[in-house]
Amino acid sequence: MIEETGKTGKKDDRGEGACRPDSNVQGACRPGSRGAEVCRLAGCGEEWQRLQTELTGRLKLRRLNHSLAVADQAVAMGHLFGGDLVKLALAGLLHDSAKELDNEQLLALAEARGLITDPAERANPSILHGPVGAWLAFQQWGIEDPIILEAIRLHTTGGPAMGLEACIIFMADLIEPGRSYNGVEILRRLCRQDLRAAMIEAIEQTLVYLERKKLPLHQGTLRCLEWLKEERGIVWKAKN
Ligand SMILES: [Fe+2]
Ligand SMILES: [Fe+2]
Repeated sequence: MIEETGKTGKKDDRGEGACRPDSNVQGACRPGSRGAEVCRLAGCGEEWQRLQTELTGRLKLRRLNHSLAVADQAVAMGHLFGGDLVKLALAGLLHDSAKELDNEQLLALAEARGLITDPAERANPSILHGPVGAWLAFQQWGIEDPIILEAIRLHTTGGPAMGLEACIIFMADLIEPGRSYNGVEILRRLCRQDLRAAMIEAIEQTLVYLERKKLPLHQGTLRCLEWLKEERGIVWKAKN
């Protein structure tokens, strides 16, 4: 829910082969190359390509490049914090697949499919692109994995007890190299060290943003913050 002001698509002429899978250097690869590579190595390169092709026809280039950059960022964070790299790549690729729908379309689809869970979604329908995107991924693109679907569903609002991959996608969405807003560098620094601290900071930034815009707070976000301040179950610190 933080304002999206950034642009993605930083070019790199070294090509896909130059991306080190263990690298957390941001913007070092062509967007999507790191995500494509982990999928290829896991034997699901064709699925990545199929989904990327689907999105190419549906998303504006700027949005597609953002999605590819989130996939790469999520894979880099997966190397630091753990998590399934292929699921992170695919969730990053698909997370904004419903973002081109307008508010009326999002609301109509969410109402018809029973996806509304909080009054804030009616007041600010754009946040429905998470649950609607998860529904699209399941219905249209055959994604059945609950970890991927959760990561897509919760990437905007967060939620209590979200899984590690969902936490990583939540943060990768906010710090991919094309993002540019006040506070992003703090989040990038925290994301190299302590995932929970990064999420707490991100949600607290979101609370300030919502207050400034006079937008209602989603209760899932509030419960996510409470959970983060109590949770001890996930190993949140970066591995060295
Ligand atoms: Fe999004
Ligand atoms: Fe996004």
